[in-house]
Amino acid sequence: MSLPIPSPEALAHSEALCALLGDEIRTQGGWISFARFMELALYAPGLGYYSGGAQKFGSAGDFVTAPEISPLFGRTLAVQVAQVMAASAPDILEPGAGTGALAADLLLALEAMGSLPERYRILELSGELRARQRATLEARAPHLLPRVSWLDRLPEAFSGVVVANEVLDAMPVHLVHWVDGGIFERGVALDADAAFTWQDHPATGALLAAAQSVPVAAPYLSEIALAAPAWIREWAQILQSGALILVDYGFPQREFYHPQRNQGTLMCHYRHHAHGEPFHRPGLTDITAHVDFTAVVEAGVNAGLELLGYAGQGQFLLNCGLTQVLEHHTPAEGTAGADYLRLASGAQKLISPSEMGELFKVMVLGRGIEEPLVGFIRGDRSHTL
Ligand SMILES: C[S@@+](CC[C@H](N)C(=O)[O-])C[C@H]1O[C@@H](n2cnc3c(N)ncnc32)[C@H](O)[C@@H]1O
Repeated sequence: MSLPIPSPEALAHSEALCALLGDEIRTQGGWISFARFMELALYAPGLGYYSGGAQKFGSAGDFVTAPEISPLFGRTLAVQVAQVMAASAPDILEPGAGTGALAADLLLALEAMGSLPERYRILELSGELRARQRATLEARAPHLLPRVSWLDRLPEAFSGVVVANEVLDAMPVHLVHWVDGGIFERGVALDADAAFTWQDHPATGALLAAAQSVPVAAPYLSEIALAAPAWIREWAQILQSGALILVDYGFPQREFYHPQRNQGTLMCHYRHHAHGEPFHRPGLTDITAHVDFTAVVEAGVNAGLELLGYAGQGQFLLNCGLTQVLEHHTPAEGTAGADYLRLASGAQKLISPSEMGELFKVMVLGRGIEEPLVGFIRGDRSHTL
C-alpha cells in the first residue's frame, strides 16, 4: 500500500494512540472487539481520529462529504427541513457537524425562505471541530450565530429536525465471521511483536443474536452495527415531535449482506486514498462502514418512531427541487460563469447514480408528522427495507 507519508507530529500522534490501544488490549485480557478498537481509534479523547487534530474534511483532508461538495446540498435539504419544522417545532439539531458548512448553508437557505429555526444546536465532541464550525458560521452567517449553540450530549427531550449527514457510518461496528463451525466475532489482539492482529472468538450475547438473524452463506465476513441502532433507540426516547433526517451510504439488509459482498464494507480513508486496513496508522485514518438501513428502521420503528420515507439521495434532492434551486442560482448572461459551472458540477455529483445519487440514501424517521414528506413524493423505496 503506498500512501502519503505523515509528518513526524502526526506519526507521534498515531504512535500514542497505538500505545493506548495496546494497553486496552492487555487490560482486557489480550483481545478487544473491533467495535472497541474503532471507538478508540476514532474517539479516544485527544487522540482519536475525530477527537484529535487531523484535518479530515475537504481537499486537504481525507474525504469529502456532500456539504463540502456543494452548497446545493444544504440549500435543497432546507426545503425538507422547513416542512418538518412547520409540522413540529422551529428547532434544528445537527450531530457531528463537520466544518459547519451544512449548518451555514441550511441557515442561510431557511432565512431566504422565511423559515429560520429559533435554535440550531450542534452536538460536537471535538473542540477543534467546534472552533472550525464557529469560524465557518462567523464568516458566512455572522448575523445568525446567536441562534447557534453547541452541546456535548444529547438533550433529554427535543422537538424539531435532527439532521445527521454521514454520522451513522462513523459509529463503531462489530466484525462477524460466519463459518461452517459457527459464528465468530473478529477482534483485535497483539502478536509476538506487539503489533495488532486479527483474532476470532465465538460471538455471544446481542451480537450473536443479531448475527443469527442475518441470512448469509458461510464463509462470510461482514459488519454488524450495534451502536447505530442503539443511538436511534435513544432518539426514539428523546424526540417528542419532528423527524430525524439520516443521510448516509448504505443498503437495505438484503443488499448489505449480498453473497458477493462477502468481505464486508469496512473502509479506511487517508488523504483521499481508500484502503481496507484499519490497523494502518490509527488516529490519522478515518474508519467507516456502510449502513444497514434495515437495522436502522427496525430499531426506530420498534422503539415507536414512524418511517416517513427512504430514497436514494439523488431522487430525494430532485424531489426537494434541486433543479429549481440550481436555476435560482443561474447567473445573468456573461457573469460568474465559472461559479455556475462549479454549482452544476456539484449538482451532478450529488445526484448522479454513478456518484452519490444511488449509494447514498436518505431515511426519515419521525413522530407526529401527518403529511407526506416532499422528499419522497416520487421514488420512495421504503418497501425495499
Ligand atoms: C464523516 S463525519 C461527517 C461530518 C459532517 N456531518 C459532514 O457531513 O461533513 C462523521 C461525524 O459524525 C460524528 N459522530 C459519530 N458518532 C456520533 C454520535 N454518537 N454523536 C454525535 N456525533 C457523532 C463524528 O464525530 C464525526 O464528526
